[in-house]
Amino acid sequence: MEQELFDTLAELEMRSAKGIMDPDSAKFLSILAISNKAKTMVEVGSGPGYSTLWLAYAASVTGGKVITCEIDSAKAAETQANLAKANLVESVEVLVGDARELLRQRSEPVDLLFIDGDYGQYETYFDVVYKRMNVGSMVVADKVVAHENDLSDYTTYVQNHPNLESVTVPVGQGLEITVKISE
Ligand SMILES: C[S@@+](CC[C@H](N)C(=O)[O-])C[C@H]1O[C@@H](n2cnc3c(N)ncnc32)[C@H](O)[C@@H]1O
Repeated sequence: MEQELFDTLAELEMRSAKGIMDPDSAKFLSILAISNKAKTMVEVGSGPGYSTLWLAYAASVTGGKVITCEIDSAKAAETQANLAKANLVESVEVLVGDARELLRQRSEPVDLLFIDGDYGQYETYFDVVYKRMNVGSMVVADKVVAHENDLSDYTTYVQNHPNLESVTVPVGQGLEITVKISE
């Protein structure tokens, strides 16, 4: 990892510990993306850009790109500034607005979807992107243990879907890791 990225991640860990993804979860997400050789990664909810940086790091290894959506324009600007500090602007497209609308307007196949937006909408984010996923593509959703009740509809949905395998991994606030196994 380049020093600029390391320093930007460390600064966010110190400054915004509550508003960012758990560091172990973010590193795990990045490792999943790299091992899955993900080329097109989509993120819902960049916040200040901590998880975006980890996805951009994965993209730098796989030769891929990240499309991130953030509804709050100040946070989107923070993401953009942090990507600039880490020299990772080129591999990331930061879209400002509601991910449900933004992602409906896209058409590229998606290898990895990372969901960290508002709890009531996880299924909607999933549905909008799912039709553009191939067998082997992955969805990672954050906070499914810390907000188990809020997200139980989502976890029940993906765990009972006939074309998916899904498991809850108790790292950080809990990740639901889902892979598409058939069309
Ligand atoms: C927990 S924060 C994300 C933290 C980020 N993943 C990180 O590690 O730095 C959740 C973010 O989702 C954004 N959000 C909520 N609903 C959204 C939507 N419908 N579309 C896009 N972003 C949304 C919020 O503005 C907030 O910044």
